[in-house]
Amino acid sequence: MSQPALESILQEKRLFPPPPSFVQRARITPERYQQICQEAEADPLGFWERLAQQELHWFQPWQQVLHWDPPQAQWFVGGQLNLSYNCLDRHLDNGRRHKPALIWEGEPGDTRTLTYEQLHREVCRWANGLKSLGIQKGDRVGIYMPMIPEAVMAMLACARIGAAHTVVFGGFSAEALKERLRDAEAKVVITADGGWRKDAIVPLKSQVDLALAEGVPSVEKVLVVQRTGQAVSMIPDRDIWWHELAPSLEEACPAEPMDAEAMLFILYTSGTTGKPKGVVHTSGGYNLYTHVTCQWIFDLQEEDIYWCTADVGWITGHSYIVYGPLSNGATVFMYEGAPRPAKPDCFWELIARHRISIFYTAPTAIRAFMKSGDALPRRHDLSSLRLLGTVGEPINPEAWMWYYTVIGSGRCPIVDTWWQTETGGIMISPLPGVTPTKPGSATRPFPGIAADVVDMEGNPAPEGGYLVIRRPWPGMMRTLYKDPQRFRSSYWERIPPKDGQYFYFAGDGARRDEDGYFWVMGRVDDVINVAGHRLGTMELESALVSHPAVAEAAVVGRPDEIKGEAIVAFVILAEGYGPGEALRQALMQHVVEEIGAIARPSEIRFTEALPKTRSGKIMRRLLRQLAAGSGISGDTSTLEDLGVLERLRQGV
Ligand code: WT7
Repeated sequence: MSQPALESILQEKRLFPPPPSFVQRARITPERYQQICQEAEADPLGFWERLAQQELHWFQPWQQVLHWDPPQAQWFVGGQLNLSYNCLDRHLDNGRRHKPALIWEGEPGDTRTLTYEQLHREVCRWANGLKSLGIQKGDRVGIYMPMIPEAVMAMLACARIGAAHTVVFGGFSAEALKERLRDAEAKVVITADGGWRKDAIVPLKSQVDLALAEGVPSVEKVLVVQRTGQAVSMIPDRDIWWHELAPSLEEACPAEPMDAEAMLFILYTSGTTGKPKGVVHTSGGYNLYTHVTCQWIFDLQEEDIYWCTADVGWITGHSYIVYGPLSNGATVFMYEGAPRPAKPDCFWELIARHRISIFYTAPTAIRAFMKSGDALPRRHDLSSLRLLGTVGEPINPEAWMWYYTVIGSGRCPIVDTWWQTETGGIMISPLPGVTPTKPGSATRPFPGIAADVVDMEGNPAPEGGYLVIRRPWPGMMRTLYKDPQRFRSSYWERIPPKDGQYFYFAGDGARRDEDGYFWVMGRVDDVINVAGHRLGTMELESALVSHPAVAEAAVVGRPDEIKGEAIVAFVILAEGYGPGEALRQALMQHVVEEIGAIARPSEIRFTEALPKTRSGKIMRRLLRQLAAGSGISGDTSTLEDLGVLERLRQGV
């Protein structure tokens, strides 16, 4: 938790009501909102049930809206639907057949547009392709792709035939990929030769080869999309080019009716222990929740061109590039690359050229743009924008104001959306035609969401405590893959249930102000949020310790102007190794190889000892203070050897 951010947030008093012109056209107006909230509070299950009936296509209705056997939730029990059907087929008959579903641009500047009809056809072909490789209902498929339309097709194809996908972010290393494929027991991996990012090729296929070389016994086939055209090695009988398989495949493939509770995907996220957590989402509740939140929070209108800059490898990409917007029949813009030295203003240029109206990005990106000055965005016509969004970490009021004034010209409401991989969809956010916003606050819970701030005993603690959810919601995770016990202990027992009341513990600290607005202050557990991405300190430490030169390591976050938090590692060297610049670089590279470039430590400090309690626990609080360069404060009485602190401070 960064001290300065907290202070500036506390002083924040500015209030921005939605512009009247926006309210006039908004899907959810203040009057409608009152009515919705009353409905949702009076009868939460009836509220979700009506929305499920109105908004989605079901092959078979449910018998029960919710079966809640804490912490096990089942939504729309007995109902059958298909995400791919709701995202594609139904739009063919409701006037959207020739509407663009995806407008895509590659980093080199190549473009593709797929109408709903065309995307439907491609997804059917992909579904048949997966079937031809032996994929059946219930199987798991790994997806390790660049940001190209085929990534979306592959996900929807899995959903279509009832296979669960596990998308692994293309920036993760072979090691991280291997671990995820193994845990998920994926049968097929879908990848590409490479992808473009920051004017370089990300060599995806060779990473897959490395991951599989170490043995992932479940993987039978690797399906490879040709994107960059660089040479890759293809292993006979295992690797198949998509463009060689595709022509032989039929273009029709009916969507499989799936149980509402059938697993839709597993997405791995960092936790407080070394092993990533396989967050499981299912079909019915997830479809409904991403659909409704996307429609209301982004105020989707028929003519909008919507751009979320996330990668499909993260939950934001799953929920708000693919399933939420397509279920609503929206036009989604998708970009392969990222801002880079040769094109620092590519986002603004893309907004102008594609007439983007809704733009959803992360505070870390906003801060980086802010730093490079107003001249770049001012060079482009951003008048098509009408709504801005942010996600991933708390946004500091300064960055919020810059986003509002420079990018939005003071015309566009900002939706600061708080949620998590585990929540499936947005939980706390303004509704843009309703909620007056305060820079730095995600404002209020979505209708039907019982968010609160409590202490460790579950008592209300609005002035500062733990962010919890008091009631199940349709988009919630159902379990951790193959680890229901960890699901229970990490999320539902950290704050003990009392009198039948269960608390979903999000891992964030927060407070509520006099208007009931939520101010999320950051993680309270051993998770670091680097540029909006969660990394477990344990994961980073195990990566470091796996290097022969490292005897022991402790990793903490330090406030960073651009990335939110930066990684600082305290390292004790093994016998026979001495500190030095070369070793420092080697260790940084080692972490990149183990986890991926996002995990590169910003700083490595060699030390001879770590501050520990008498029971041997590393006192991270002290390390955090040291890393931040602030003085040591608070209780040090449990410290085993006070001299350690002095030596660390002097940078021995
Ligand atoms: C953690 C979840 C959900 C998509 C991106 C990250 C932090 C996320 C906000 C926000 C303050 C936020 C929280 C949360 N976070 N959005 N608007 N304000 N903090 O997903 O990797 O599952 O991370 O990101 O700490 O717990 P994730």
